[in-house]
Amino acid sequence: MRRSVELLEMQFESEIRMLAEKLRGARRVVALTGAGVSAESGVPTFRGADGLWREFRPEELATPQAFARDAVLVWEWYDWRRQKVAACAPNDGHRALAELGRRSSAPFEFDLVTQNVDGLHRLAGSNPVWELHGSLWNLRCTDCSRNREDRRAPLPSIPPRCECGGLERPGVVWFGEALPSDVLAHAFEVASCADVFLVVGTSALVQPAASLPEVAGEQGALVVEVNPELTPLSGLVDLRLAGPSAQILPRILDAL
Ligand code: OAD
Repeated sequence: MRRSVELLEMQFESEIRMLAEKLRGARRVVALTGAGVSAESGVPTFRGADGLWREFRPEELATPQAFARDAVLVWEWYDWRRQKVAACAPNDGHRALAELGRRSSAPFEFDLVTQNVDGLHRLAGSNPVWELHGSLWNLRCTDCSRNREDRRAPLPSIPPRCECGGLERPGVVWFGEALPSDVLAHAFEVASCADVFLVVGTSALVQPAASLPEVAGEQGALVVEVNPELTPLSGLVDLRLAGPSAQILPRILDAL
């Protein structure tokens, strides 16, 4: 038993070394993250055993129709999520990705693309962060379209109102809505010329984000998945590092 654990650890070490070697020779590296990267910060994922979509129905809370039906209910849910996230701090996985970003252009360009709306990558120091699904901290007026950031949690009044008097909505992408076109275009552009593409903590079920690793792989990137569980991508990636991102990402950084 002990021997097999040692063998697994040796194999893991050699995979990390191989990845570090590949990273050292890379010109462009892209990471796509999902809710799993924030799991060890205490932010619930969407589809895990304690995931948000086990407890709540997405169509009742995360669609334009739900907001049109009951803006207060939708806002109460987002305000609850904002309070939960406000109590969380970035973990070593967020910090390792921020450090990769700081090393950007030495030796490689690095882009961080996330499906997360929690803002923890920014708090960890990543900049820019390409937020495909928006941010819990942004509010957008449904009348004048003014965007603003508001980090108060709880919000002083629900539903929040713009200075023009219009109803504000959460600055996130809901089911059935288009992703921000500039962010999406950038994500596909960098995916198509990445040498290494890291897919971290996502179930890879939600499009179009789930297509990014495939595009990268088709264009010749080494695609690496960091996730304790199997996903639909697992059989397609070049390397699977099975485990929590807060442990694995710092090890990759150390090996660099
Ligand atoms: P999911 O909840 O679907 O998936 C989270 C993934 O993280 C799973 O594959 C877990 O195995 C993995 N995971 C759990 N703990 C982890 C850890 N410590 N380290 C690494 N991975 C871990 O979340 P997403 O894939 O982000 O969209 O979901 C994608 C989109 O679906 C979300 O952005 C949201 C949701 O509905 C919208 O709201 C539009």
